[in-house]
Amino acid sequence: MGTPTGTRPHASADRPGATARPDAPGSGGGAPPRVALVGVHGFGTHHLRNLERLQSAGAVELVAVADPQPPAPGSVPPSAAVYPGLDELLAATQGLDVVIVATPIQTHAPLALTALATGADLYLEKPPVASLADFNRLCDAAAESGRGVQIGFQSLGSHALQAIEDLLAAGTIGTLQGISATGRWVRDRAYYKRSRWAGKRSIGGVDVVDGVATNPLAHAVATALRIAGARTIGDVASVETELYRANDIESDDTSVIRIRTASGLPITCALTICAAESVEPCVTLQGSAGTAVFHYTEDRLTVITKSGTSEVTYRRDDLTENLLAHRANGVPLISPLLDSGAFMLVLEAVRTAPLPAAIDAAHVRWEGDGEAAHAVVLGIEDALERAGRQHATFSELGLPWATSAPYALSLPAS
Ligand SMILES: NC(=O)c1ccc[n+]([C@@H]2O[C@H](COP(=O)([O-])OP(=O)(O)OC[C@H]3O[C@@H](n4cnc5c(N)ncnc54)[C@H](O)[C@@H]3O)[C@@H](O)[C@H]2O)c1
Repeated sequence: MGTPTGTRPHASADRPGATARPDAPGSGGGAPPRVALVGVHGFGTHHLRNLERLQSAGAVELVAVADPQPPAPGSVPPSAAVYPGLDELLAATQGLDVVIVATPIQTHAPLALTALATGADLYLEKPPVASLADFNRLCDAAAESGRGVQIGFQSLGSHALQAIEDLLAAGTIGTLQGISATGRWVRDRAYYKRSRWAGKRSIGGVDVVDGVATNPLAHAVATALRIAGARTIGDVASVETELYRANDIESDDTSVIRIRTASGLPITCALTICAAESVEPCVTLQGSAGTAVFHYTEDRLTVITKSGTSEVTYRRDDLTENLLAHRANGVPLISPLLDSGAFMLVLEAVRTAPLPAAIDAAHVRWEGDGEAAHAVVLGIEDALERAGRQHATFSELGLPWATSAPYALSLPAS
């Protein structure tokens, strides 16, 4: 399963007790999988906490982390050596079983390719990469390596998705006619100042594609696609985007993405991070005899039919645990790389779309001061709701600030 680590060049690697490798309960007595985490701040902190939990249960050993910004002393387990980058980590660490990449979007492709070349399984944060060309390259590398690649759309681990499949099969809400995804969050100026890639379409010619649909509310898009059964590139017939921004950024913060699946189902994602207040995003199934609303961050499913309303909160499978089970027992991955193909067409549509249109200041209110100030697009709540319900873009709804037009992605030849 792995060999001991090599030299540990950084002081934090040499703390007492750094080398013990507990046997994983339930794994046949063998040593637990050796894991490395790339990117320890930002969302990497979430992975760090999760890996600590799994390490306490004997399910993994976190042997190394990499980040050019070193972790604070004591913030990574003593088992983990600390390196400034993946190359340095790999030069000093043998026998890795799993690499987790939680770094800025534009670094995903090179880091993922490097990680796969080691023969480790890969957990790659969403969005997988910043272009369709890189996605195809990564799929080829993954196929060649034969390793598992899990993409960090953690909402896909929700047990509510099976409940949705069951209720559709039972005809509880009649025939599925369309799906909408609605997301309205608040992000302040500090959000866009936290990292140099925040709000960028590209940096120095390298794609970043940090837009509302491809990063903060990417789960809304991915969850809607999964519910529609649109997993791979071939499952999508068309993608249109209409992108706007109220913030002084390059990418979009208020957008409609309209997808038609190969089976003809419309999916409309109406998303903003310029709302008056944050509410939990949801995916709505529009049926001929009812509606189901899935609040995916809470695993909460509400079903509304003539006979009444029911609400159930489900459990969720952890994607890292699922990747470990895949390695150990061949359990299918919940969010495999190839199943991000449909999402990657959305990202490609956003990447290649015209620059987002700036929303005229007359339709934007700023709330708060300084770095805590955030833009509110006037009337955005109603606009999102109508866009989702009518499968219309903002310009098609005739909104006064919607000066753009739908842009259709030219789908790659199959
Ligand atoms: N699944 C989710 O719910 C979720 C939520 C938030 C962010 N994310 C994703 O996580 C990733 C990171 O986002 P973030 O907001 O935490 O970014 P961030 O910029 O705040 O933090 C990224 C971390 O990676 C480090 N880093 C940068 N380049 C690196 C490199 N080459 N090698 C190693 N480390 C490097 C940075 O120093 C930083 O510590 C993105 O892909 C983002 O979309 C996922």
